[in-house]
Amino acid sequence: MVDISTSLSGVKLDNPVIPASGTFGFGYEFNDIYDINILGAISIKGTTKEPRFGNPTPRIAECTAGLINSIGLQNPGIDKVISEEIPKLRTIYRKPIISNISGFSIDEYVECCEKINAVKDVDIIEVNVSCPNVHKGGMSFGTLPENVEAVTKAVKKVTTKPIYIKLTPNVTDIVSIAKACEQGGADGISLINTSQGLRIDLKTKRPVIANKIGGFSGRAIFPIALKMVYQVYEAVKLPIMGIGGVSCAEDVIEMMLAGASAVQVGAENLVNPFACRDIINNLPQVMEKYKIKSLKDIIGEAHK
Ligand code: SIN
Repeated sequence: MVDISTSLSGVKLDNPVIPASGTFGFGYEFNDIYDINILGAISIKGTTKEPRFGNPTPRIAECTAGLINSIGLQNPGIDKVISEEIPKLRTIYRKPIISNISGFSIDEYVECCEKINAVKDVDIIEVNVSCPNVHKGGMSFGTLPENVEAVTKAVKKVTTKPIYIKLTPNVTDIVSIAKACEQGGADGISLINTSQGLRIDLKTKRPVIANKIGGFSGRAIFPIALKMVYQVYEAVKLPIMGIGGVSCAEDVIEMMLAGASAVQVGAENLVNPFACRDIINNLPQVMEKYKIKSLKDIIGEAHK
């Protein structure tokens, strides 16, 4: 029997597989197609202080081995997420919940994190300083170390739950950003969010997406994500949730060898809604194939 369990800042996970925020709704939507209690955890839809309709359509462009999105943080707002969405998820789901928070100012991050910190059903807060699809806030917080440190310090002051900062790959030096998270007192790091991308429609000769540029994700970005997880693991002592192009059990193992303590699955949920279930089911046999007894033992092994 192999051991597929892991943990994040003291939060125990039955397995490392977590649907990434924005690709799995508030979780309960997927319970109609499989029992979501098999998941390691769920990172629910990114939430802002106010409800948001999101960006104009089209918001999605297909690409080779991936897709570009520009959703624009569509969500019902923090109060409704707390009063309706999380309680609805809890009626059917017993495993850890990760709440993903976005903002347009430090005050907004602080207000939302303080509110979500008071929700007993939330286990981890993922602070998204990396959304590429809003003109203010979002990724603009995640591209400068001093901004990342300031947001981290501010939310840490009003929270007691583990704080994971979700980073953008759209920077020249991911290590300096990760160090700023550590300096600010973060409990962990989620990386990577989407990489900026563009498609042009040959018929209209205009960008496919109404907002023109969006965030590129999917299998094509896996080596980029893996490289950044590897670099960040070497530079900081914080646990990492590895994200980016993960589509199979082998990818999960690679991410953990690079240094991830758990792994989020994003765009693959949109290609195959059973992706997380299939990965979890396949993990034991892939571990046996590569003579891995316990996933916890292989975290960062590629660095030895
Ligand atoms: C979006 O809502 O536009 C995507 C969220 C993100 O990339 O952080």
